[in-house]
Amino acid sequence: MRRQIIAGNWKMHTTRAEAIVLTEAIKQALASYDGEREVVLCPPFTSLSAVADLVGDTAIGVGAQNMHYESAGAFTGEVSPLMLTDIGCEYVILGHSERRQYFGETDALINKKLQAAFANAITPILCIGESLAQREAGETLSFIKAQLTAGLTQITAAQVSDMVIAYEPIWAIGTGKTAMAAQAEEVCKAIRQTVAVLYDTATAEAVRIQYGGSVKGSNAADILSQPNIDGALVGGASLKSEDFVAIING
Ligand code: 13P
Repeated sequence: MRRQIIAGNWKMHTTRAEAIVLTEAIKQALASYDGEREVVLCPPFTSLSAVADLVGDTAIGVGAQNMHYESAGAFTGEVSPLMLTDIGCEYVILGHSERRQYFGETDALINKKLQAAFANAITPILCIGESLAQREAGETLSFIKAQLTAGLTQITAAQVSDMVIAYEPIWAIGTGKTAMAAQAEEVCKAIRQTVAVLYDTATAEAVRIQYGGSVKGSNAADILSQPNIDGALVGGASLKSEDFVAIING
């Protein structure tokens, strides 16, 4: 069975000192956690190393929010996969809608990053999701299938089995408008069916699919009980230890 995975995307929040306080609080709150769900923290680059060191002796994992696809080179301002593995970073969020929207990331660029993640043994969390206009136009499922297919170009079945796909409808991010559990389930099921068509049933059954978008303690249980939802990618509510832990226990 798939182990659910709860990841906190801290986005551009927390100074190094704040990141340490937040990590310590989460660590403490999970000290006797049975580990039923996998937990991953994704702080900003400036705090990644400190957070990785703090959770080093626990079951909590660490992820980056972005990375470049080259190992090194003249790419001012970028961070490479090699730099991430060097500090103990095991996951990377790729293709978040904020990166697509504000930084012009295309499916082709995100696919290159995905390939680089696998080449460096970093587990990618590939984000996909429709806009409000696409949902209202009835294009959600066709858009999601196309976005997923483009993102998975040249990715093998074995790699897909190991990765995480995060379904994040753009209209639900940071808006307080969570998708209804049934709405989220419908799309996550379609994502799994698309993986089955692109690869095979075993790969579709293995890949973990998260939902993201205004997940909080009060709606986590409903969302996480859906058969095709294998976890949550949490933004705002991951910045307060009690809220994040409530989701993990949700
Ligand atoms: P919120 O939980 O703040 O809506 O953010 C979701 C998200 O974008 C996680 O990557």
